[in-house]
Amino acid sequence: MNTASLKTAIVTGGSRGIGQAIAKRLAADGFAVVINFSSNAARAQETVAAIEASGGKAIAIQGDVGNPDNVAALFNGAKQAFGRIDVVVNSAGVMPMAKIRQASLADFDKVIATNLRGAFLVLAQAAAHVEDGGRIIALSTSVIAKSFPAYGPYIASKAGVEGLVHVLANELRGRQITVNAVAPGPVGTDLFLEGKSEEQVRQIASLAPLERLGTPEDIANAVAFLAGPDGGWINSQVLRANGGFA
Ligand SMILES: NC(=O)c1ccc[n+]([C@@H]2O[C@H](COP(=O)([O-])OP(=O)(O)OC[C@H]3O[C@@H](n4cnc5c(N)ncnc54)[C@H](OP(=O)(O)O)[C@@H]3O)[C@@H](O)[C@H]2O)c1
Repeated sequence: MNTASLKTAIVTGGSRGIGQAIAKRLAADGFAVVINFSSNAARAQETVAAIEASGGKAIAIQGDVGNPDNVAALFNGAKQAFGRIDVVVNSAGVMPMAKIRQASLADFDKVIATNLRGAFLVLAQAAAHVEDGGRIIALSTSVIAKSFPAYGPYIASKAGVEGLVHVLANELRGRQITVNAVAPGPVGTDLFLEGKSEEQVRQIASLAPLERLGTPEDIANAVAFLAGPDGGWINSQVLRANGGFA
């Protein structure tokens, strides 16, 4: 395949869960995909192999989104591999459950470092490197509207992400680049399922009028819309893809 002509997408947190589904979907839509991951190289390589087996083009690049050198290397690596960057999706994230009390400070610092500092660094590199006419999409969460106990650090991080999205959309005026967030409701990935009993999962799944958990593919559909030609007039929005959970 001639990669010089391919539009390119970077997906952070593309080795597992929602990011993996986004990477596969954007590859199926014709993008060369750069899959970032933190530590799970095997899952990242599986994702690359699955994309290649379907006739797509992908590479994996390790890097912590909270580390400025790693994020710069991710964007440089994408440019070296494919020559251009058209779409950036920041899906890397963590969700420790921690009540608002002194003992939770380490969890707070961790989630802010990955979700908010990570988003800041990825959006900053995206602003510098995405081609005019490109798309930038950050993952937020619909749980912001619920204010459940123990979600404080996570909700704080994602509320910050939504703020960054609106500001960056304004900062990129004149370049025809859209900047949006997709805010999933509960999706059955490691991030959501870890630490929950089957009963808790069933109860949370029943909250949306559509009465099920989201799938990673449900969220990838929303991201693909924003990244593709039909999403071109959507800018500075938060798309709450949640089955009516909010
Ligand atoms: N699942 C849900 O119910 C839900 C709902 C709303 C919003 N979201 C948001 O959707 C996004 C994806 O969540 P998910 O459910 O797909 O999570 P997941 O299945 O736990 O996958 C997390 C991904 O992020 C990567 N990652 C974690 N920390 C990282 C770091 N510091 N630097 C780079 N990559 C890192 C992981 O890489 P490794 O494989 O290397 O560990 C993995 O690829 C997150 O932003 C999350 O907040 C999820």
